[in-house]
Amino acid sequence: MKLEAKWFCRLTAICVLSNMIGISLYYSQYFINTLIHVAPVKEFSNEYPSHSTDATNWTITLRNMTNTTGKQIKNIYFYNPQFYHVFNDWISGTWGTSKKFEGCPVSECIVTKGKIPIEKIDAIMFKPRDMSYCPPIKPLGQVWIFVEFETPNYYFRTKCFYDLKNKVNWTMTYRRDADFPVAHGYFRRGNKRKYSQKDLDDIFAKKNKTAVVFISHCPTVGKRLQFIKLLQSYGIQVDVFGLCGTKTLKDCGNEDRYKASFNVSGELKPDCFGTVLSQYKFFLSLENSLCMDYTTEKSLHRIMQHPIIPVIRDGSNASIFHPPHSYIHTSNYGSVKELAQHMKMLSANKTAYLDYFQWKQHYHTEDMYKEWNSAFCRICERLHYPEKYRRVYRDIAAWHISPGGKHVCHGPMDLR
Ligand SMILES: *[C@@H]1O[C@H](CO)[C@@H](O)[C@H](O)[C@H]1NC(C)=O
Ligand SMILES: *[C@@H]1O[C@H](CO)[C@@H](O)[C@H](O)[C@H]1NC(C)=O
Ligand SMILES: *[C@@H]1O[C@H](CO)[C@@H](O)[C@H](O)[C@H]1NC(C)=O
Ligand SMILES: *[C@@H]1O[C@H](CO)[C@@H](O)[C@H](O)[C@H]1NC(C)=O
Ligand SMILES: *[C@@H]1O[C@H](CO)[C@@H](O)[C@H](O)[C@H]1NC(C)=O
Ligand SMILES: *[C@@H]1O[C@H](CO)[C@@H](O)[C@H](O)[C@H]1NC(C)=O
Ligand SMILES: *[C@@H]1O[C@H](CO)[C@@H](O)[C@H](O)[C@H]1NC(C)=O
Ligand SMILES: *[C@@H]1O[C@H](CO)[C@@H](O)[C@H](O)[C@H]1NC(C)=O
Repeated sequence: MKLEAKWFCRLTAICVLSNMIGISLYYSQYFINTLIHVAPVKEFSNEYPSHSTDATNWTITLRNMTNTTGKQIKNIYFYNPQFYHVFNDWISGTWGTSKKFEGCPVSECIVTKGKIPIEKIDAIMFKPRDMSYCPPIKPLGQVWIFVEFETPNYYFRTKCFYDLKNKVNWTMTYRRDADFPVAHGYFRRGNKRKYSQKDLDDIFAKKNKTAVVFISHCPTVGKRLQFIKLLQSYGIQVDVFGLCGTKTLKDCGNEDRYKASFNVSGELKPDCFGTVLSQYKFFLSLENSLCMDYTTEKSLHRIMQHPIIPVIRDGSNASIFHPPHSYIHTSNYGSVKELAQHMKMLSANKTAYLDYFQWKQHYHTEDMYKEWNSAFCRICERLHYPEKYRRVYRDIAAWHISPGGKHVCHGPMDLR
């Protein structure tokens, strides 16, 4: 089994750097239209938002604003409750404190939510997709951070999303060109779990079923149910779990899986997933929409920690996110029929099938939380040196939907 040199290359500092430069050049075309640079600003105004329809009734006092290093503490404020659930478990009761920044190069920051005088807020993090109205006032010097984990194909009908011209400074999304890119899992060099030949034999022996998928949102722009039907029509047996299928699993329902997605402590318990996945040869990682860089826990840590081959259907370039020969990507096949043939071949050829687990001898996967920690460290650092990181997105809706005039998503092209 040969792993591409290029992939290893990413791991050395020079290669990481040259890749970063490559990526910025690649994406620089997008910024030409959406990003402008502005002159420094100095002062806050002291006005409280005239309305706070989206703020909760939570009130919180900033418990300890003293500092030992002489640095002003920066207050990072979570504006709308609709996305607390994403961060709530990660923040886990440390609202109003600096706890999440311990170990950061610059740690003089706190995360807060609830009603707080606007002059105490240095940065607002918000998810306009869920907000009828934008925050009414942007005081000078305040930084606005756009947060979104979904693609623009979903529910971007709120007025606020389109009202944000020249307001958003930084972005935290699933896109690689975001200021703080956040994926749902990462591959790291170094194996935590090395399979012996016997392990591999046992793994293969248990797999008496072909493909499994968990779906609870049925109609999607990616038309994944249609894709499944087509795959079945070419003789691939697919068991569909979740609200859109016929199978259900205790403790592994949609809500359980959703909660566990953003639960730091939270693997699903009991590990229903692992037990089920061990019987199948393939996991269908079918995203709801087909968009640039949009790949989720369906093909990252959540699935890849188990011995199963993901069949990925999404709009990302999988070779950037995954080690070579660790996945099957539907776009690499001329048709669903060809894909089905390949899956049948692998099902019948143990050696060829198990070759897809060779990467596990060199890499392991990690959940997203280390990356979140690092993103918040970087946010804190930037807030202390804003002049180094000054930027404004001229039109965040355009950036999210069609940077450089090219839509980030495309419709299904394989349903023939
Ligand atoms: C918020 O507080 C107001 C007045 O204190 C109360 O009437 C309202 O029910 C509260 N809303 C929620 C969602 O708790
Ligand atoms: C507040 O911070 C100071 C300096 O870091 C520390 O000495 C003190 O114990 C803290 N007080 C509380 C109530 O956390
Ligand atoms: C922290 O230290 C700086 C410099 O001594 C000071 O200006 C600031 O008021 C202190 N307190 C807070 C809450 O940042
Ligand atoms: C597959 O194996 C599982 C146990 O690992 C067993 O419960 C199930 O009945 C088997 N299914 C078929 C179709 O043989
Ligand atoms: C996260 O998982 C732990 C342990 O499984 C559980 O006790 C907790 O309620 C979960 N939190 C959320 C937000 O689901
Ligand atoms: C995907 O990324 C690889 C680099 O990992 C690149 O060589 C390839 O051209 C990209 N493919 C597409 C379709 O952009
Ligand atoms: C099974 O796959 C291996 C590795 O790809 C290949 O060398 C071998 O010829 C295949 N066996 C059959 C019977 O096709
Ligand atoms: C943030 O955006 C505002 C304009 O909305 C701008 O004046 C300010 O300089 C920006 N700050 C940073 C740190 O980018």
